[in-house]
Amino acid sequence: MELNSTNVLSALGSVLDPVEKKDVVTLGNVKELKIEGNKISFDLIVKSAALQHKKRMEDACSFAMERNFGSEVTCEINVISKVPVKEEGIPGVKTIIAIASGKGGVGKSTVTANVALGLAKKGYNVAIVDADVYGPSIPIMFNVTDETPASMDVNGVNKMVPVEAYGIKIMSLGFFTEPNQPVTWRGAMVTKALKQMFFDTHWVDIDFMLVDLPPGTGDIHLSLVQSTSVSSAIMVTTPQDVAIADVVRGIEMFKLPNINVPVLGIIENMAWFTPAELPDNKYFIFGKNGGKDLAEKIGVPLIGQLPLIQSVREAGDAGRPAILQESTSVNKYFVDIVDKVLMLQEKREKELPHTSVVQMTK
Ligand SMILES: Nc1ncnc2c1ncn2[C@@H]1O[C@H](COP(=O)(O)OP(=O)(O)OP(=O)(O)O)[C@@H](O)[C@H]1O
Ligand SMILES: [Mg+2]
Repeated sequence: MELNSTNVLSALGSVLDPVEKKDVVTLGNVKELKIEGNKISFDLIVKSAALQHKKRMEDACSFAMERNFGSEVTCEINVISKVPVKEEGIPGVKTIIAIASGKGGVGKSTVTANVALGLAKKGYNVAIVDADVYGPSIPIMFNVTDETPASMDVNGVNKMVPVEAYGIKIMSLGFFTEPNQPVTWRGAMVTKALKQMFFDTHWVDIDFMLVDLPPGTGDIHLSLVQSTSVSSAIMVTTPQDVAIADVVRGIEMFKLPNINVPVLGIIENMAWFTPAELPDNKYFIFGKNGGKDLAEKIGVPLIGQLPLIQSVREAGDAGRPAILQESTSVNKYFVDIVDKVLMLQEKREKELPHTSVVQMTK
C-alpha cells in the first residue's frame, strides 16, 4: 500500500481500543500524523494510565503499520494518556494526592504530616484527610486527639469545620471515634465517613489535600477513587523485600482500570540509620536501596530516600512533626521530598490538561 496519510489512517482504522470499544481513528485518538520519507509518526491518545494498556495500543498500531506498509517503514508513536475526570471534585479543593503503601508501619502518616507542613511552608493551603481505618494517627502527630470538628452553617447547609494545627486543615476518622476504643470500620461505614469528610466539610481554597490511607489494597482505596477524583498517589515503602513486594501490589492496584490513579513516585523510608555519635556511618537495617532499585526497575520516579532518624519518631509522638525543626538535616530531607513532589505533580498536570492546575507560582 502506498505510504500516505489517507492510507495510514485507513490502516489505523482497524485498531480497536478495548477500553473505548471503537477504533482509534473514529475516536479521534490519532493526532499530529506526520510522514517523512519512510518514517511515520503520530500521537496516540489513550484514555487510561495503565502501562499495560498503553503498551498494548502502541503495539497494535505498530503492527498495523508494518502489515500495511512493510517492515522497511519505521513508526514512532507518542502515547499520551488522558484519563477522563471520573467523579465530581470536592468544592474548595484543587488537587488530591493519596499517600499509600503496601505494608503497614512504613511511614505513610509520617510522610503525610511532614509533606503537608512542607507544602504549607511554601505558601500553599493544605489539608489532610486521615482515612486510616485501623489506627488514625494524624491527630496524634498533630497533637489534636482531644479535638472534634465544629459545625457551621454554610448557605443553609450544615458543614463540619476541619480541625486546624500548624496551619493544616485536618479531618480524621479518629475524630469520629472514642480514643482507645477499637472500631471495626466496615465497607459501607467507611465509604460514608469518607464522603462526609470530603463533601460535608467546609473546605476553603485548599491547594493540596493529602489523603493518608491505611496499608494494603482494601475497600477504602476503591471507596476513595469512587468518591472523588484523586490526582495521584505517592507510595511509601521501606527497602525491605517484604515491603517492596507489597508496594508492587499497591502500585498494580492503582493501575487497575476501575481505580486508575497515576503513581507520582516512591518514597523509600527508613533507608538507612546513622547514629548521632557516628555521623559518617550508614547502617542499612532494612536492606539497601530497595525502593530506589524498584523505582528504576518499574520506571516510576524515586521521590526520595529518608533515613531512620530518632527525632522523626519522637517528633511524631510528641505531636509536632520533624519538619518543623528548622535548619536540621531532618528538615532538609523532607524539604527535598516536598520539592520533588511539587515538581512531579506539576509535570503530571501538564501531561493531563483536563485536571485542575494548581498555580505553582506562589
Ligand atoms: N524516617 C523515620 N525515622 C524514624 N522513625 C520513623 C521514620 N518514619 C516513620 N517512623 C516511625 O515509625 C512508626 C510508623 O510510622 P507511621 O505511623 O508514619 O507509619 P504508617 O505507614 O502510617 O503506619 P500504619 O500502616 O500503621 O498507618 C512511627 O512511630 C513513626 O514515628
Ligand atoms: Mg498511618
